[in-house]
Amino acid sequence: MNDALSPQPTSPAGSPMPAPQAASPAEARIIAITSGKGGVGKTFVSANLAAALTRRGHRVLVLDADLGLANLDVVLNLHPKITLHDVFTGKAQLEDAVIEAPGGFSVVLAGSGMVEYSRLTPEVRSEFLNVIQTLAPRYDVVLLDTGAGISDVVLFSVSLASEVLIVATPEPTSLTDAYAAIKVLATQQKRQHVRMVVNQAARAGDGRAITSQLQQVLDRFVTTDSGRPMRLIHMGDIPADPSVRDAVMRRQLLLQQMPGCPAALAVAQLANKVESTLLKPAA
Ligand SMILES: Nc1ncnc2c1ncn2[C@@H]1O[C@H](COP(=O)(O)OP(=O)(O)OP(=O)(O)O)[C@@H](O)[C@H]1O
Ligand SMILES: [Mg+2]
Repeated sequence: MNDALSPQPTSPAGSPMPAPQAASPAEARIIAITSGKGGVGKTFVSANLAAALTRRGHRVLVLDADLGLANLDVVLNLHPKITLHDVFTGKAQLEDAVIEAPGGFSVVLAGSGMVEYSRLTPEVRSEFLNVIQTLAPRYDVVLLDTGAGISDVVLFSVSLASEVLIVATPEPTSLTDAYAAIKVLATQQKRQHVRMVVNQAARAGDGRAITSQLQQVLDRFVTTDSGRPMRLIHMGDIPADPSVRDAVMRRQLLLQQMPGCPAALAVAQLANKVESTLLKPAA
């Protein structure tokens, strides 16, 4: 069993949640896609990365882990009859909440009306954990499309993942918020590294430069439990591309609507990198 699926410490709601130990590539199957600032492209990356990994032969589940402000359904143009809300309230079976998305991967949507779950109660914690424990073994990789920031619900969902992909844009506000989130992941979740994707990059190479600037700040101010600085692993850049907005407006996957555009090619490259660093080869 994945470390991420082991029973979590029974600390009171809202208290820091240590993350699973650094995963070996074979175990690194639950990936949280998160950010410091909102609106930077987490849902876009989650959905299109899922489509790209599916195309490469992996069985992929995307879980809408943004319980308060879910919007994966909007991006995928899905109108699910059953959502996590129904599962959490006992109105439906988890199995019935798993639906197929346009890219051929599975999704579980949070749906609207989850406002009461934007607080991390012991009930939310155990329901959430149960969903992951039940579903994760059926897939090669699970992507958690989390909310932004460092609220306890966001940090809890991130704590369930063996690897964290931080999405940031080159804007200073996005970078300072990413720094704050990374710092919390080092101190509260005892993570030794996180992975970075720079979205809406203006020029090729921008993301790597930004990641190394952020690394320099971490080197000075954020030390992990091991005594070493928190390590940022640059996974790729996605350029700012008007086709992304077009695809969102049409509620379609970019990879399906405009597979040759610069942002779609960058997501495909990101999928390559995720596959080669974190996944077992597809069967
Ligand atoms: N590479 C890109 N180029 C151009 N526009 C982009 C790009 N990535 C994202 N966007 C725009 O940013 C919007 C927000 O993206 P998305 O909903 O994925 O962000 P999010 O981080 O999931 O937001 P939230 O924090 O609210 O969940 C998209 O609807 C799209 O218009
Ligand atoms: Mg989102």
